[in-house]
Amino acid sequence: MSRKTPHPSRPTPHEPVPVLTLDGPSGSGKGTVGLRLASRLGWHFLDSGALYRLLALRAAQSGTSIKDTAGLSRLAETMDIAFEPQPEASLRILLDGQEVGEAIRTEDNGRRASLVAALPEVRRALLKKQHSLRQPPGLVADGRDMGTIVFPDAILKIYLTASTEIRAERRYKQLMEKGFDVNLRRLLDEIRERDARDTERGVSPLKPARDAWILDTSTLSISEVADRIYGRLQQKWPQAGRPKKGPDKREV
Ligand code: C5P
Repeated sequence: MSRKTPHPSRPTPHEPVPVLTLDGPSGSGKGTVGLRLASRLGWHFLDSGALYRLLALRAAQSGTSIKDTAGLSRLAETMDIAFEPQPEASLRILLDGQEVGEAIRTEDNGRRASLVAALPEVRRALLKKQHSLRQPPGLVADGRDMGTIVFPDAILKIYLTASTEIRAERRYKQLMEKGFDVNLRRLLDEIRERDARDTERGVSPLKPARDAWILDTSTLSISEVADRIYGRLQQKWPQAGRPKKGPDKREV
């Protein structure tokens, strides 16, 4: 039996699977940048915000109150979720076999997601799903507590930020392009409210990890941000690069 030479971008069996974390407030560009990086590297992608959004949607569909902590934790553990990477660095999100990518992105569902995300029991229930996505050859993880709590041993931790006004404008454009009827003033207020709740909560608050690289994206394009992070990752993990085949659909 011949021994196969490991692919240069794959860790050996004794090395932990490398993780690149991207944390920051909504509208800082994490999602778009993270998907681009995952696609360029051929790594898996975890949109942890989508997990909280999916739970908020599932709770609304099943009539589970935001105050019913036990019910929410049960839903979190039993939700059947699939992330399917698509061409052009996008992600198809399925909940119990139904595509829900648009339904989870509404501002109202985002607000409810940040309410359920403040519950320690819910965060515990979703932790296993997040860890299960750490698969070879690597993982790009996007969220609020990726570098601080979920993957403290990540090889590179990035904290993306941008002014509130710029983040609201980006979100406004995104929603307009998708055909949603939005009001910039109201979006700004909602972003401020959500930032306050995410940074002030007692459990896993939004903050940079002590060893995070903080990058203000206010005046940078998506490509510039992705290139800077890619360059820094290559300094830390020179074997990072695209393997022959990208990751398949992941069920969590
Ligand atoms: O990133 P996104 O806007 O989709 O996240 C929705 C909400 O989920 C956030 O406002 C935050 O309250 C919560 N969240 C979190 N921890 C994460 C990711 C998202 O608490 N790692």
